[in-house]
Amino acid sequence: MIKNQNETEEFGMELGRTAAPGTVIALIGDLGTGKTTMTKSIARGLGIDDVITSPTFNIVKEYDSGRLPLYHFDVYRIGDIDEMYELGYEEYFYGQGVSVVEWADLIEDILPEDAMIIRIEYGEKEGERIYQCTF
Ligand SMILES: Nc1ncnc2c1ncn2[C@@H]1O[C@H](COP(=O)(O)OP(=O)(O)O)[C@@H](O)[C@H]1O
Ligand SMILES: [Mg+2]
Repeated sequence: MIKNQNETEEFGMELGRTAAPGTVIALIGDLGTGKTTMTKSIARGLGIDDVITSPTFNIVKEYDSGRLPLYHFDVYRIGDIDEMYELGYEEYFYGQGVSVVEWADLIEDILPEDAMIIRIEYGEKEGERIYQCTF
């Protein structure tokens, strides 16, 4: 599916409104394709009103003010998959919250089998993005 920015935001909000506990949403796409934008919309759909900022330097940030906890991962700077074990990723992925992972292709080996995978690419027109989702 192809989405402009408004549709991206609507799609993310709907994911946030409907996500079940323990959902892992894996976002895969180049810089600037809209992974953080998508995460912010998911957060809004969960009813989180905190400002969402990229957790680039600490890998994961937790937000507890919504319907379910949100665990926002940005694994862009991960050196080694061991860092995920060190931060106890399993407690997040298999816990009661919703995990959203930016740059999830870097940790593909440890994504749960039932993770929702969203691949985002640039479309031809400005503001257009191509989404491929597997559930
Ligand atoms: N259809 C779209 N979906 C998501 N973001 C879009 C779209 N069109 C334009 N943008 C813009 O692209 C940028 C995406 O940035 P960001 O979400 O930080 O990307 P990433 O986290 O993937 O690096 C934002 O400035 C956003 O406003
Ligand atoms: Mg980002």
